[in-house]
Amino acid sequence: MPTPHLEIVHRQEFSAAHRLHSEALSVEENREAFGPCEHVHGHNYVLEVAVRGPLDPRTGMVLDLNQLSKIVTGEIIELVDHRFLNEDVPFLQDVPVFTAENLAIAFWNRIAEHEDGWGEARLHRVRVMESEANFVDYWGPGN
Ligand code: NI
Repeated sequence: MPTPHLEIVHRQEFSAAHRLHSEALSVEENREAFGPCEHVHGHNYVLEVAVRGPLDPRTGMVLDLNQLSKIVTGEIIELVDHRFLNEDVPFLQDVPVFTAENLAIAFWNRIAEHEDGWGEARLHRVRVMESEANFVDYWGPGN
Protein backbone atom coordinates (compact mmCIF):
# COMPACT_ATOMS: atom_id res chain seq x y z
CA MET A 1 0.00 0.00 0.00
CA PRO A 2 1.42 3.42 -0.90
CA THR A 3 2.19 5.82 1.94
CA PRO A 4 -0.72 8.21 2.52
CA HIS A 5 0.09 11.92 2.26
CA LEU A 6 -1.85 14.38 4.39
CA GLU A 7 -2.07 18.04 5.25
CA ILE A 8 -2.00 19.22 8.86
CA VAL A 9 -3.08 22.71 9.85
CA HIS A 10 -2.19 24.82 12.86
CA ARG A 11 -4.05 28.04 13.61
CA GLN A 12 -3.35 30.85 16.08
CA GLU A 13 -4.70 34.33 16.66
CA PHE A 14 -2.89 37.55 17.45
CA SER A 15 -3.93 41.16 17.85
CA ALA A 16 -1.79 43.84 16.29
CA ALA A 17 -1.84 47.32 14.84
CA HIS A 18 -0.61 48.39 11.42
CA ARG A 19 -0.93 51.14 8.89
CA LEU A 20 -0.82 50.81 5.12
CA HIS A 21 1.62 53.23 3.56
CA SER A 22 4.02 52.84 0.65
CA GLU A 23 7.21 54.85 0.24
CA ALA A 24 6.89 54.08 -3.49
CA LEU A 25 3.65 56.08 -3.76
CA SER A 26 2.98 59.81 -3.54
CA VAL A 27 0.84 61.31 -0.77
CA GLU A 28 -2.11 61.40 -3.15
CA GLU A 29 -1.49 57.84 -4.40
CA ASN A 30 -1.23 56.53 -0.84
CA ARG A 31 -4.54 58.15 0.01
CA GLU A 32 -6.13 56.65 -3.08
CA ALA A 33 -4.67 53.18 -2.54
CA PHE A 34 -5.25 52.82 1.18
CA GLY A 35 -7.90 55.36 2.21
CA PRO A 36 -8.57 55.18 5.96
CA CYS A 37 -6.20 52.19 6.27
CA GLU A 38 -3.31 54.64 6.02
CA HIS A 39 -4.13 55.51 9.63
CA VAL A 40 -2.97 53.26 12.45
CA HIS A 41 -5.62 50.66 13.22
CA GLY A 42 -5.82 47.13 14.57
CA HIS A 43 -6.90 43.65 13.55
CA ASN A 44 -7.55 40.41 15.34
CA TYR A 45 -5.43 38.46 12.90
CA VAL A 46 -5.59 34.71 12.38
CA LEU A 47 -2.45 32.93 11.20
CA GLU A 48 -2.94 29.49 9.70
CA VAL A 49 0.00 27.25 8.80
CA ALA A 50 -0.46 24.13 6.67
CA VAL A 51 2.18 21.41 6.35
CA ARG A 52 2.02 18.49 3.94
CA GLY A 53 3.88 15.22 4.03
CA PRO A 54 3.75 11.45 4.23
CA LEU A 55 2.26 9.71 7.25
CA ASP A 56 4.99 8.35 9.50
CA PRO A 57 3.64 4.86 10.28
CA ARG A 58 5.59 4.73 13.54
CA THR A 59 4.03 7.91 15.01
CA GLY A 60 0.79 8.06 13.01
CA MET A 61 1.63 11.70 12.30
CA VAL A 62 2.81 13.88 9.42
CA LEU A 63 4.48 16.25 11.86
CA ASP A 64 3.96 16.70 15.58
CA LEU A 65 1.44 19.57 15.81
CA ASN A 66 2.97 20.46 19.18
CA GLN A 67 6.31 21.01 17.47
CA LEU A 68 4.63 23.19 14.82
CA SER A 69 2.74 25.09 17.52
CA LYS A 70 5.97 25.87 19.38
CA ILE A 71 7.59 27.23 16.20
CA VAL A 72 4.60 29.42 15.31
CA THR A 73 4.30 30.66 18.89
CA GLY A 74 7.98 31.34 19.49
CA GLU A 75 8.98 32.63 16.07
CA ILE A 76 5.90 34.72 15.26
CA ILE A 77 3.03 35.06 17.73
CA GLU A 78 5.10 36.13 20.73
CA LEU A 79 6.84 38.76 18.58
CA VAL A 80 3.78 40.28 16.88
CA ASP A 81 0.96 39.99 19.45
CA HIS A 82 -0.07 43.39 20.82
CA ARG A 83 2.60 45.16 18.73
CA PHE A 84 2.58 47.93 16.14
CA LEU A 85 3.79 45.84 13.22
CA ASN A 86 5.25 48.77 11.26
CA GLU A 87 7.69 49.67 14.03
CA ASP A 88 7.91 47.16 16.88
CA VAL A 89 8.92 43.89 15.19
CA PRO A 90 12.58 43.51 14.16
CA PHE A 91 12.00 40.59 11.74
CA LEU A 92 9.43 42.69 9.85
CA GLN A 93 11.61 45.75 9.40
CA ASP A 94 12.18 45.06 5.68
CA VAL A 95 8.46 44.71 4.86
CA PRO A 96 7.70 47.45 2.31
CA VAL A 97 3.93 47.75 2.94
CA PHE A 98 2.18 46.09 5.86
CA THR A 99 -0.48 44.24 3.88
CA ALA A 100 -1.64 40.71 4.70
CA GLU A 101 0.18 39.65 1.50
CA ASN A 102 3.55 40.86 2.75
CA LEU A 103 2.94 39.50 6.25
CA ALA A 104 2.17 36.06 4.79
CA ILE A 105 5.48 36.10 2.90
CA ALA A 106 7.45 37.24 5.96
CA PHE A 107 5.81 34.60 8.18
CA TRP A 108 6.42 31.89 5.55
CA ASN A 109 10.12 32.74 5.39
CA ARG A 110 10.48 32.56 9.15
CA ILE A 111 8.64 29.23 9.53
CA ALA A 112 10.38 27.65 6.52
CA GLU A 113 13.74 27.98 8.29
CA HIS A 114 12.58 25.09 10.50
CA GLU A 115 11.73 22.65 7.69
CA ASP A 116 15.05 20.82 8.09
CA GLY A 117 13.74 19.28 11.31
CA TRP A 118 10.52 18.00 9.75
CA GLY A 119 11.67 14.87 7.92
CA GLU A 120 9.84 14.74 4.59
CA ALA A 121 7.09 17.16 5.65
CA ARG A 122 7.11 20.56 3.95
CA LEU A 123 5.48 23.89 4.58
CA HIS A 124 2.54 24.10 2.15
CA ARG A 125 0.51 27.22 2.86
CA VAL A 126 0.51 30.25 5.13
CA ARG A 127 -2.84 32.04 5.52
CA VAL A 128 -3.09 35.48 7.12
CA MET A 129 -6.65 36.55 7.93
CA GLU A 130 -7.47 40.15 8.77
CA SER A 131 -11.11 39.13 9.21
CA GLU A 132 -13.40 36.24 8.34
CA ALA A 133 -14.06 37.97 5.02
CA ASN A 134 -10.55 39.09 4.07
CA PHE A 135 -7.53 36.83 3.99
CA VAL A 136 -4.48 35.94 1.96
CA ASP A 137 -2.90 32.57 1.10
CA TYR A 138 0.77 32.16 0.23
CA TRP A 139 2.10 28.89 -1.18
CA GLY A 140 5.75 29.82 -1.11
CA PRO A 141 8.21 31.20 -3.64
CA GLY A 142 7.48 30.13 -7.23
CA ASN A 143 3.88 29.10 -6.55
NI1 NI B 1 -5.74 46.92 8.24
